Amino acid sequence: MHISVIGTGYVGLVTGACFAEFGLSVTCMDTDAQRIGKLEKGVVPFYEPGLTELVAKGIKENRLTFTTNIVNAVDQALVIFIAVGTPPKADGSADLSYVEEVGKGIARNMTGYKVIATKSTVPVGTGERLRQVIKANQTSSHRFDIVSNPEFLREGSAIEDFMRPNRIVIGADSEQAMAIMKDLYRPLYLIETPVVMTDIPTAEMIKYASNAFLATKISFINEIANLCERVGANVQVVSKGMGLDQRIGSKFLHAGPGFGGSCFPKDLAALVQTGERHGYEMQVAGAAARVNEKQKFAMVEKIRSAMGPLKGKTIAVLGLSFKPNTNDLREAPALTIIPELQKDGATVRAYDPAALEESCKLLPGLVPCEDAYQTAENADALVILTEWNQFRTLEFERLKTLMKQPLLFDLRNVYEADRVAGYGFRHISVGRLPVEPSA
Ligand code: UDX
Repeated sequence: MHISVIGTGYVGLVTGACFAEFGLSVTCMDTDAQRIGKLEKGVVPFYEPGLTELVAKGIKENRLTFTTNIVNAVDQALVIFIAVGTPPKADGSADLSYVEEVGKGIARNMTGYKVIATKSTVPVGTGERLRQVIKANQTSSHRFDIVSNPEFLREGSAIEDFMRPNRIVIGADSEQAMAIMKDLYRPLYLIETPVVMTDIPTAEMIKYASNAFLATKISFINEIANLCERVGANVQVVSKGMGLDQRIGSKFLHAGPGFGGSCFPKDLAALVQTGERHGYEMQVAGAAARVNEKQKFAMVEKIRSAMGPLKGKTIAVLGLSFKPNTNDLREAPALTIIPELQKDGATVRAYDPAALEESCKLLPGLVPCEDAYQTAENADALVILTEWNQFRTLEFERLKTLMKQPLLFDLRNVYEADRVAGYGFRHISVGRLPVEPSA
């Protein structure tokens, strides 16, 4: 079967490369000629473990091709996935102009029956709107079906998430389209992946509800963490105790500096906005977003109150991307926290295994360093902002000799406080009491 994927961003490129790996013939289309030129040579425009190898394999085995021409993308494909961006507008609603542009392009170039599936997170009602756009712009009388097939992949583990999903969600209103979509995912039935088959608006809602719920879980535990600090409880043990209840589950209960990324903040805003449009206030989603904003500033307060006036001090930050294994800085807590520290007069040195170059563009005055130890040189404090694996095994004895004073802000709760204190460090984390050096 031949399919195409329009949009070679995160979701689009991973989808294309993974379906090619399933043995399908895949055309990936993007209007960005430079990006397509690079992809044709196997150059992936962002960092995602394993993706470069998968793209190279698809190209080599002739199952993965790239084009800038919508005609090529529509021509042979039975299924056309739309995976273009839906950036937030000023009011928080998703901008669907790219989706609609693609719809028009498909409408004008149809060569037969097509299944047109949205993969990006699109507001409830987009499927219907897309149908209208295509109908209004069709230059032939070919039949087509609209499908919602939301993607749940996480950055940093995108390929694993695609290849081993918890579930596949397909929203369709035609048996033919449903059967074709189910067929696409055949390789995953070997691992008994459940398929939720439903109508289009329900599939669209599942995606928003899932992301908003996960974001809410994080904001909830961050609030509990802040309260733990005040009452002398330990949030990590609270999370564990809660998570063992199967109705709650242990995932996404990790307290920290707040969530970032391209999905959670944007999807919460879009859900709240969808509610407003329908005269309904989405209070929980709204609160989850507000708590998240506050959490970043709570981290700044934590640093200020432990260090006193920051003017003239040097702070070493480890990890800048919104989470490990990605160079993505979108909505990263670093982008809020670091400027606040700089505003107070601190010099911020930083290291990130993948996002350093981009960070320097976005954060004027940031002093880039080559590794954790260089970052720590002459610093008054070390701050772990993103839990890259390499920051989980820091040599504290060495750090202590490099730093002006041994102070660690472990904002991802990576370390056992007593162990760090044993090396002579003051350990300050999230949702646990500070621990004074014991050596
Ligand atoms: C998310 C969803 O998980 C995915 O299903 C969807 O398709 C896209 O959005 P992603 O944004 O890549 O994926 O990252 P995720 O691993 O979910 O983390 C999001 C943010 O939450 C990160 O900033 C992370 O640090 C933070 N987080 C996550 C916490 O602070 N605590 C947790 O317990 C989990």
